[in-house]
Amino acid sequence: METIKKKDNVRYGTDKIFEDAEDFLPLLGTDYVELIVGNAKQSALFYKTAFGFQSLAYAGLETGVKDRVSYVLQQDKIRLVLTTPLEPGGWMNEHLDKHGDGVKVVALWVEDATKAWEETTKRGAKSYMEPTREEDDNGFVVRSGIYTYGETVHIFVERNEYKGTFLPGFKKWESHYNPSEVGLKYIDHMVGNVDWGQMNTWVDFYAKVMGFAQIVTFDDKDISTEYTALMSKVMSNGNGRIKFPINEPAEGKKKSQIEEYIDFYKGAGVQHIAVATDDIVDTVSQMRDRGVEFLYVPDSYYDDLKERVGDIDEDIEVIKKHGILVDRDDEGYLLQLFTKPVVDRPTMFFEIIQRKGAWSFGKGNFKALFEAIEHEQGIRGTL
Ligand code: FE2
Repeated sequence: METIKKKDNVRYGTDKIFEDAEDFLPLLGTDYVELIVGNAKQSALFYKTAFGFQSLAYAGLETGVKDRVSYVLQQDKIRLVLTTPLEPGGWMNEHLDKHGDGVKVVALWVEDATKAWEETTKRGAKSYMEPTREEDDNGFVVRSGIYTYGETVHIFVERNEYKGTFLPGFKKWESHYNPSEVGLKYIDHMVGNVDWGQMNTWVDFYAKVMGFAQIVTFDDKDISTEYTALMSKVMSNGNGRIKFPINEPAEGKKKSQIEEYIDFYKGAGVQHIAVATDDIVDTVSQMRDRGVEFLYVPDSYYDDLKERVGDIDEDIEVIKKHGILVDRDDEGYLLQLFTKPVVDRPTMFFEIIQRKGAWSFGKGNFKALFEAIEHEQGIRGTL
């Protein structure tokens, strides 16, 4: 392991120690991401077919749950929970009505969920769920939770005494339909969009309440095109496994993509989930074949790619064919690509990322990426 100061050029990957992060909240990784959706059964089929997720667990009427149904899907270290209410009224329907399909819970895996709750609420976090022990024949878990931006929450999951499939109350989900995985490995980062003037509020929240270190800043000069702009800061926990960039809109000639998100999500929320692969060409070509739509990258992006990023292992013609973006920093390069929104509103999307030494977030691609998003905004009439 390597110790790195905040001001230094830090790099990512697991178990990089960020010295400025505090250690009162040790996080082992992302435990699961839960979305409240309009039809969990059909969403589950989409994530299996298009993204290669595997059936893992289920809770609903058949397991004694009366008010909701949840499908849990897994691909390597990534777990998605898709939940739909079964009754009218209540917070889940309010969430759906206001936001459409979207992320409610970013659950973090901890050794001690009680201590995680105590340390964060003591530092000012608003409690969402007091430490709660849940058990079944496979052992017990303790979960607790706090609010973060918008109506999004973090749930701390302590599961070292649990041997079951997912959580108590869930049964194993056996399905005859099991499309193969597409090579998605783990969540690299998850981005939150917050309203005008709110970025620093939430950066301070992650610093003070959760002990995260700020590792990157992009201002509106870094992230702008002729028309639109945004600002972003990246927060990381001490071991680098949890990285949360926070975006806010910035003034431009036309409407910021962050403002478009806020308009449609009706407030702050998770903008994108970046998932890592070891073979982006294979992953992206499989996902395209299975119906996933990616942002369009103009052919001209590739004209000066070699001069910009130098030698890469991949064939540029193949990269170009799949519309994959490339960027280089001091320590290596990365390949990335963004889906179009995967929900009906122009809100949440996925990023597919392959890191080959690079720790950064693809700053060199921002212009091409934003022009692609502006193109989509133009078609939607929201630019
Ligand atoms: Fe990203």
